[in-house]
Amino acid sequence: MSGASGGAQLADLQARNLPRHVAVIMDGNGRWATERGLPRWRGHREGMRAVRRTVEAALELGIENLTLYAFSVENWSRPEEEVGALMHLLKEFVEREIDELCRQGVRTRVFGDRERLPAAAQSSVQVLESGTAAGTRLNLNVAISYGSRDEIASAARRLATLAAEGRLDPSDIDVARFSEELYTAGWPDPDLLVRTSGEMRVSNFMLWQIAYAEIHVTPVLWPEFGRDDLFAAVADYQGRERRFGGVTS
Ligand code: IPE
Ligand code: IPE
Ligand code: MG
Repeated sequence: MSGASGGAQLADLQARNLPRHVAVIMDGNGRWATERGLPRWRGHREGMRAVRRTVEAALELGIENLTLYAFSVENWSRPEEEVGALMHLLKEFVEREIDELCRQGVRTRVFGDRERLPAAAQSSVQVLESGTAAGTRLNLNVAISYGSRDEIASAARRLATLAAEGRLDPSDIDVARFSEELYTAGWPDPDLLVRTSGEMRVSNFMLWQIAYAEIHVTPVLWPEFGRDDLFAAVADYQGRERRFGGVTS
């Protein structure tokens, strides 16, 4: 249980406006491990269990889209051992979870610069995506080797190329057209952005897409995040007044 609304009941949450898309910056694995005198990779491994709990809770609530930030382009600068452990855990995650994700109707997609992933990790991702492609209950999107600025720059580059080739009229480039060039083309924008471990920053995550997301920061470290924490985040969201730049009704 975390915070006053941690015990919010499922039925109460479902009776109100559920976010259609929840995005989570899963942070604090290293600190969780260090606090226990364990190597950082143990925190990442424990973090995988939190992913399982969060998927279960999202399914229980009936959230349609859940996006998890697992590894940023900046995270490639971490020590080789830690990066190696994370890549190995990705493979382990796929092996351990794929059947359950399938059974639960969770369509899982990975987005980011996957070319940078080692071959074994790339094939795990391929197996995960094709193995869960028929899922219709929940879209689970996992950002790996993801950087929002890179995503935006690549979109601009593609549009500029099309324009230079005479295949696109620059006056047709608007918000909708630009969005089509992002990894997230066709997905609704996140309504709720959760960050664990208390950090008040977005760390190059979905900068375009979170323009009007409600932000919930919890001090809970990601390996300890669970059902009650997701419920508390949703309850917090439901208490917000979203204005999108308009006036209060
Ligand atoms: C989040 O936990 C997972 C990744 C970024 C891969 P961290 O590894 O950033 O943990 P802290 O922030 O150092 O505690
Ligand atoms: C953000 O966490 C990236 C992920 C959760 C994958 P970081 O730990 O990398 O972010 P900073 O360095 O604290 O901003
Ligand atoms: Mg961190």
